[in-house]
Amino acid sequence: MKKPRFTPLQILVHFGGWLPLALLLFDFFNNNLTANPIQAIEQRTGLNAITFLILSLGCTPIASVFGWKELTQRRKALGNYAFLYAALHVSTFFILDYGLDLAAVWRDVGTKSFIIIGALAFLMLLPLAVTSFNYWMKRLGRNWKRLHRLVYVISPLVIIHFFMAKKGDLSTLSGDIIQPLVYGAVVLILLLLRLVPIKKPLIALRQKIFAR
Ligand code: HEM
Repeated sequence: MKKPRFTPLQILVHFGGWLPLALLLFDFFNNNLTANPIQAIEQRTGLNAITFLILSLGCTPIASVFGWKELTQRRKALGNYAFLYAALHVSTFFILDYGLDLAAVWRDVGTKSFIIIGALAFLMLLPLAVTSFNYWMKRLGRNWKRLHRLVYVISPLVIIHFFMAKKGDLSTLSGDIIQPLVYGAVVLILLLLRLVPIKKPLIALRQKIFAR
């Protein structure tokens, strides 16, 4: 029998990748983006970006611990969707929110330092997006893998940016901290799952369970 062109997971990834943008456009054209549409676009695209970033970060550890190999083939597309939404998020900020007035952005950075953290994360995302093509993968060889380890720095930075944007304060448990806290916990777990002393026993456990 001929192999299907697309796997169900592949379809799900691409459907899920475009859906938030389609919903955003739908809400935009139906005037359904709250009283502050620019802020709503910023918040939605920011949340979409971090969600896809975490999903792509999860592919390798989940594939190795649970043996779901196909996930490693979907990592790139998920990373590209993360970049798409991050680019929309950043463009909304600079173009719609600040009308490309960089002096005004610079003035506000003093009171909104989370912007610097977001900008750092975005600058690090750029080379990952540019080199996501097979051409660069082949050209860079082992350095491609090294470069893409930047995601271990980007994800905690984005979580800090998220916390600060929500005015979260862990010491007083004030601000809207539940969502960034949940996202932060997921990132921490996914990073820990990459550590050999944690990963190895879990893989051994899975192999033991499925060998029965
Ligand atoms: C130059 C880079 C960036 C700038 C200027 C920026 C700007 C902002 C601003 C102004 C907000 C607050 C929106 C509001 O509630 O009024 C925000 C929130 C947020 N940003 Fe960014 N950001 C940047 C990079 C990023 C990146 C790279 C990501 C993810 C990959 C990201 C994810 C988020 C998230 C998750 C929120 C919170 C959304 C929510 O309130 O639910 N940001 N960002």
